[in-house]
Amino acid sequence: MKAIRFVVAVGCALAAGSVFAQSGADVVKSKGCLNCHAVDAKKVGPSFKDIAAKKGDQAALVAKLKDGKGHPKVAASDAELKAAVGYVLSTK
Ligand code: HEC
Repeated sequence: MKAIRFVVAVGCALAAGSVFAQSGADVVKSKGCLNCHAVDAKKVGPSFKDIAAKKGDQAALVAKLKDGKGHPKVAASDAELKAAVGYVLSTK
């Protein structure tokens, strides 16, 4: 079930590619977030579902990732981080 939902989401993201620069799901892949995170398993960092269950403030999380304070520094633009965090919070 989950796999199917994922495929559908990616399909939509590709279809919407011309409208949105990059979807959050793309960003977490292309910016290496998935090296340390997975949607529903703990790796180096907590699972995205775990984060979504505990955190809700998108702006605060974007700021934290941007500063690289208390989180490994990530090389991504504001827009990319916003999309990525939005995606993380949507996995709840
Ligand atoms: C080098 C490993 C690593 C990479 C790469 C990484 N993370 Fe993390 N992340 C962690 C660890 C460890 C934590 C737990 C400590 C913390 O809260 O900062 C974490 C926590 C988080 C949190 C929760 C922060 C909080 O305040 O609870 C979010 C959101 C997050 N990561 C998003 C991302 C996104 C989006 C990316 C890609 C742009 C990313 N991470 C890349 C290791 C990583």
